[in-house]
Amino acid sequence: MAPVEEVVTVAVHVAEAAANLHTAVRGTGGPDVTASARYVERRSWIAEYFDRTAAHHWKALTSDAKVSRVRATVRAGRDRMRRTLLAALPVDLSGQRVLDAGCGTGVLAMDLARRGAQVTAIDLSPTLVAHARETAAASGVPGIDFQDGDMLAAGLGEFEWVVGMDSLIHYDVAEMVGALETLAPRVSRGIVFTVAPKTWLLSVMWTVGRLFPRHDRAPSIVPVDAADLERRVALSTALAGWRIVGKTKVEQGFYRSQAIVLLRDAARGSA
Ligand SMILES: C[S@@+](CC[C@H](N)C(=O)[O-])C[C@H]1O[C@@H](n2cnc3c(N)ncnc32)[C@H](O)[C@@H]1O
Repeated sequence: MAPVEEVVTVAVHVAEAAANLHTAVRGTGGPDVTASARYVERRSWIAEYFDRTAAHHWKALTSDAKVSRVRATVRAGRDRMRRTLLAALPVDLSGQRVLDAGCGTGVLAMDLARRGAQVTAIDLSPTLVAHARETAAASGVPGIDFQDGDMLAAGLGEFEWVVGMDSLIHYDVAEMVGALETLAPRVSRGIVFTVAPKTWLLSVMWTVGRLFPRHDRAPSIVPVDAADLERRVALSTALAGWRIVGKTKVEQGFYRSQAIVLLRDAARGSA
């Protein structure tokens, strides 16, 4: 495919994906979590999308396989973002429990395990989790407990850190804050995750995307204004004692994402 065609295809794909913000409910089953109906609705679409439509694409994007020039910029941007998230955590994670929330093919989980963390890596897509488990075994990376299910499931236990790379980007800001409120009581140090920054391009795509027909849509990326997120976190009683201390944008080609570092007050200065 020519580069221009590829750009258009990706743009249309993102616009179609953006069309999904208000879509019908389809059950996912999955573990029991206390969550809003909207969260459950989104989760259902995300599970189906990543387990069926997008599994092949994610395996390719997160490997060394040859991809188009446009997707190569996304891969490079994501590599930078992964390094950005890792830089927010202690270099030595020996003995620390880390939840990779929405682990996909497990690349970040493996980096965390290489730093000595006891990693629980969970994703809604059993297909991606099985692939991640195989990749970790083939790479000789031990110490990762891969599970398929919901990142908010209470049964996952307690952690020093939670990381969520490009997994909360599929939820709107209210659902995102709800997810942080659910996770926070189980986390002693910090939650490091990404949001899709509210840029004009993503906002236009989101608006255009809503015009597309409802069938066969992928879950949207929902643009979030980091300042709005920060205000909501500051106002949340469930997040009292937590503070956003870092917001780093990574922009490369078609990849636009922003790392958010949310720390417990007691953990600040010791990361
Ligand atoms: C864009 S992919 C990113 C995957 C991986 N973190 C990475 O950066 O390569 C988003 C992933 O988040 C997962 N996800 C979204 N919501 C989730 C939830 N509530 N529980 C578990 N996984 C979730 C999706 O299934 C999908 O694999």
